Amino acid sequence: MSGRHLLSVADLGRQGIEEILRLADSFKEVAGRPIPRVPALRGKTVATLFFEASTRTRLSFETAAKRLSADVMSFSASTSSLEKGESLRDTIETIDAMGVDAMIVRHRSSGVPARVTAWTSASVVNAGDGQHEHPTQALLDCYTIREALGESGGRPQTDFSGLRIGIVGDVRHSRVARSDVLALSLLGAEVVLVAPRTLLPPSLEGWPVKATADLDAVLGELDVVYLLRIQAERAGRLLLPDLDEYHARFGLTRERAGRLAERALIMHPGPMIRGVEIAPEVADLPASLVTRQVRNGVFVRSAVLFHLLAGPAGAVVGEEDGDG
Ligand code: NCD
Repeated sequence: MSGRHLLSVADLGRQGIEEILRLADSFKEVAGRPIPRVPALRGKTVATLFFEASTRTRLSFETAAKRLSADVMSFSASTSSLEKGESLRDTIETIDAMGVDAMIVRHRSSGVPARVTAWTSASVVNAGDGQHEHPTQALLDCYTIREALGESGGRPQTDFSGLRIGIVGDVRHSRVARSDVLALSLLGAEVVLVAPRTLLPPSLEGWPVKATADLDAVLGELDVVYLLRIQAERAGRLLLPDLDEYHARFGLTRERAGRLAERALIMHPGPMIRGVEIAPEVADLPASLVTRQVRNGVFVRSAVLFHLLAGPAGAVVGEEDGDG
């Protein structure tokens, strides 16, 4: 990764992705220690700025920062002066004035994290902006696939060529899908989007993907089935006549799970709506990597923060010396 910020998977390129995944291995090792913490970012402050609801992403970034011994500042739009009419720019400049090294930004509008870079000298990480991108989700997804491949076939490897990955659901409104399509195809995977026409982007020009509305036709050929939530807050629900019908045509039902290839993996970024995109019991099958994705999110976000803030001379992962 070259720049100071992480706004898009495109900022990383294939090499950058591989570098982050390797670094995440070190943080996985740290997580297994009795005190799962290293001093790498002692003295640095990481602020999480979430202007939109989140459970896992915010907690994941905060856990990642704490494992690096950074101080964490947490901002939540619903309890802030934004409610009193303060502008986004004034909010950012206020937080910047307190002296922060990184701002982790989530916002319902695409492009906000990029705007924020003009108003602060901190590193900015996009934690999900509108329908645009969610780069750390894509990184943790790649990490999880690489880990699972490693377990079934030896050493973890980041060459995904030959893998066919189906992304199923509300692709149109999904920043996760955009970042995942970029990252997975950079690593060599073939991506198939599976959705009703209304939930695909209006144009797929420039997307390195195939698309179909027939899940059953591709199901048996997929190595990974990646399910997406219907983005009700982004009009996804309005484009669907009926959720039961959606489940019948595009849901990963128990019957469909039974027709998956033997080693196929099931993934979902969460929050998962059981009974819509995935049958309740399918989410808990051994093939489902959902909780692993969450666990790996902490390792990958530690790697991103380390990479952006520790500098080239940063010691990778020394032992914590006890007083942190
Ligand atoms: C996703 C998001 O917010 O973009 N969730 C997440 O970060 N794990 C997906 C979603 O909300 O459906």
